[in-house]
Amino acid sequence: MNVADWSKIEALPKERLETLFANDPDRLAKLSLDVAGIHFDWSKTHLTPDAVAAFEALAKETDLAGKREAMFGGQNVNVTEDRPVEHTAERGAGKDESVARAAAYHARMRAVIDAIEADAFGPIRHVLHVGIGGSALGPHLLIDALGRDSDRYDVAIVSNVDGMALDDVFDRFDPATTLLVVASKTFTTTETMMNAESVIAWMTGAGVEDPYGRVIALTASPEKAIEWGVDETRILPFSEGVGGRYSLWSSIGFPAAIKLGWEQFEELLDGAAEMDRHFRLTALHENAPALAAFADLYYTQVRGCETRAPFAYDERLRLLPSYLQQLEMESNGKGVTVDGQPVGRPTAAITWGGVGTDAQHAVFQLLHQGTHLVPVEFLAVIEAGDTLPAEHHRQLLLNAFAQGAALMKGKQVDDPARSYPGDRPSSTLLLDRLDARTLGALIAFYEHRVFVNGVLLGINSFDQFGVELGKEMAKAAAKGGGDFDPSTTDLIARAGLA
Ligand code: F6P
Repeated sequence: MNVADWSKIEALPKERLETLFANDPDRLAKLSLDVAGIHFDWSKTHLTPDAVAAFEALAKETDLAGKREAMFGGQNVNVTEDRPVEHTAERGAGKDESVARAAAYHARMRAVIDAIEADAFGPIRHVLHVGIGGSALGPHLLIDALGRDSDRYDVAIVSNVDGMALDDVFDRFDPATTLLVVASKTFTTTETMMNAESVIAWMTGAGVEDPYGRVIALTASPEKAIEWGVDETRILPFSEGVGGRYSLWSSIGFPAAIKLGWEQFEELLDGAAEMDRHFRLTALHENAPALAAFADLYYTQVRGCETRAPFAYDERLRLLPSYLQQLEMESNGKGVTVDGQPVGRPTAAITWGGVGTDAQHAVFQLLHQGTHLVPVEFLAVIEAGDTLPAEHHRQLLLNAFAQGAALMKGKQVDDPARSYPGDRPSSTLLLDRLDARTLGALIAFYEHRVFVNGVLLGINSFDQFGVELGKEMAKAAAKGGGDFDPSTTDLIARAGLA
């Protein structure tokens, strides 16, 4: 693998943001873009045309274009697991056989939804989806963002093994009208399988005659689902090459598709496909995922930023920061290159964030005056989703924009405690409206941004071995074994679990 030369990027002049604006009247035009109903503005970051050119050179050196084609072309870019990544095939961009397989799986999913709607599973009113990580965060985000006005089905997503999560749903769902959806790529995840068993017990206890007949399995391991008791006809498969955190486009999106309706699900895929085309066909200096990744890398590599913080100025996007935490941190929170060598530089920033305006009254103190430099990302939607007087939405958007301006401008007064250093970076993503199509494009934008970050760092964004050790040790402890340190042994004993 080539060792990328970061020296040109590290040597870039470090001007203040206001100076960058003053020195280049076209700065805003050069650092903003409109793609798929989303306006992207990086002008309040320290990216400059020179920095973009230096990153383009680095992209050439690391063969971003070749690796991008390898991904879309279905080559085994997930090298540590020796397989292709096939999430783009779910929306029509990939190797022919992967695209055809994804289309067949979608057709099957649609047919099952039609059957449910035609009462083939009995009168279904409630859908209880159990899954965790990528098998929950994506569909949950979609339903929360787009499903608020839909009264099609009452859908609950339960991920935590903490029984309180299921208890809450049992309190409001009727077992006689509940469909259980078990979502697990591997169909072995402890939390999901335990929750699924408990839902079956709840149904059985309530006198449901054939609870397994009310189960839909979403999985890349159909044989395991069959072993567990799901009939083959009620399994909605997806390909092994679709990574968990990239899986909402596949059958893992089932609860969203049933809640929103099939047309909306297709719109979501179409929006993602539009972003795929943009990412694949546009020069890097006009390419939204690439520019966003360049800004990410500028802050992690040059300015020493350890975190980045997206803030959704829209309640409908309140789950986006959690979704992005998995997407970004599980993908690029790595310490070795694709060749197994130490990366030797910081990889993914820690993603955190929240919802505006709430966050302004909680964590923005640190953003404005703290000692950490945090690149902030504002997300807002021009068209209001609420039914209240327009002044609510006006206040919401103006707050987002004013925060970005204040972070950049700062303020100097005689009292240091009341001064603001300014020169704090933010980018803004302004959606025309929040519909399925735009949300699909937005999520695909983030996926490709992660990919560009990974390629320029020389890491594999598609494995996640880091999650395994803790699972193994929890499994050993659950069996009464495990070779634990004195502190952990004591904690297990104190909790009465020895
Ligand atoms: O533990 C991490 C992880 O493997 C994620 O990558 C994945 O999204 C999640 O667990 C759930 O896995 P599964 O879909 O196999 O249950």
